[in-house]
Amino acid sequence: MFSKRVDSIKPFIVMEILERALEMEEDGVDIVHMEIGEPDFDTPARIVDGCLSDIKSGKTHYTHSLGYLELREKISDYKFQTRETRFNPKTQIMVMGGTSPAFFNILSTLLNPGDEVLITDPGYPCYANFVSFFGGKPVFVPIHEENEFDLDITSLEKAITQKTKALIINSPSNPTGQIIPEKTLDKLADLVKKHDFWIISDEIYSELTYDGIIAPSLSDKKFERCHHRLIILDGFSKYWAMTGWRLGYIIAPPDLINKMTPVQQNFSICAPSISQAAAVHALDCEEETLEMLRIYKDRRAFIVKRLNEIKGISCLEPKGAFYIFANIQKLKISSMEFAWQLLEKAHVAICPGISFGPNGEGFVRFSYPTDIENIKEGMVRLEKFIQEVL
Ligand SMILES: Cc1ncc(COP(=O)(O)O)c(C=O)c1O
Repeated sequence: MFSKRVDSIKPFIVMEILERALEMEEDGVDIVHMEIGEPDFDTPARIVDGCLSDIKSGKTHYTHSLGYLELREKISDYKFQTRETRFNPKTQIMVMGGTSPAFFNILSTLLNPGDEVLITDPGYPCYANFVSFFGGKPVFVPIHEENEFDLDITSLEKAITQKTKALIINSPSNPTGQIIPEKTLDKLADLVKKHDFWIISDEIYSELTYDGIIAPSLSDKKFERCHHRLIILDGFSKYWAMTGWRLGYIIAPPDLINKMTPVQQNFSICAPSISQAAAVHALDCEEETLEMLRIYKDRRAFIVKRLNEIKGISCLEPKGAFYIFANIQKLKISSMEFAWQLLEKAHVAICPGISFGPNGEGFVRFSYPTDIENIKEGMVRLEKFIQEVL
């Protein structure tokens, strides 16, 4: 009675960990949560207040299917300031209910059955599910810690076939927190020219970078030569602490936006009007977002130092996002077993590396958008668990 298609969507392991942790909490167990990739901050007051007054003034109706023009213009200006590329707000930007549904729109527009989509391994687990759902074939390209999880252009090129339709990249990355360097993007732009495939660049963490680093993007003017095949996905969930508002956007060439518009009109009509109104205010909240970034940075410094002090674990310093992808290979235990035992015996919830792809085995992901006191307690429990239980 159900479609075959739906079987291609695999459960989200992080949700299974979270659900078990919540059950344990209901039984009175005190859990340190480091599994979910969600800011612990509430949405800045300026965004909430601005939105409330917009609701009162009637911004509660369907909008243009591409989104409020005012918001698209603001996004266009924002990208121009950061990327020096001017994207046309009328023809190149589509506002959507989050970057996740944007994948629905994009992949349903691009993929025919059997089309191959290149995905990094490890990478964000939903990508492979999205591709399979539309009859495509996810093709995993391993990335490695010794190479700071950068894309290996040689193995990427080897994976390209006649059926390659697209490559999905994510920088800064979930789960590694690493950034694809400019020199790699440069080679990637050449590869697009040579083999003609789409690049879907998930930049949801693009502002969440530390030490003054700006994550390079193929949307930068210097990579103009591949813009005819570039799809940027971005959104308000992470940097602006707006996960529940469900708002993201796509920047793409006009011909692709044209093709995607009927999909948007039929399946969504438009993104939620009140969240769009909030996003207009969000783009003015530099002060608030910089303060959140400063706090993430302190947490990152603490957890990187602590993890590297614990025998059997090591990690690179991530340059962005709010994840640590820690190496547990010396502990000779699978990442799944490690994560479940840590939860059941030490009451710390984290995510096994295997859930990000086969090459994520031997790693676990710590998510640090949580209070520093929780992180401190989590590290104490982790160290004790490794010394006394393993
Ligand atoms: C890499 C990546 N892309 C997309 C998303 C989802 O973002 P949104 O809230 O805009 O749907 C996440 C959420 O964790 C993510 O890590």
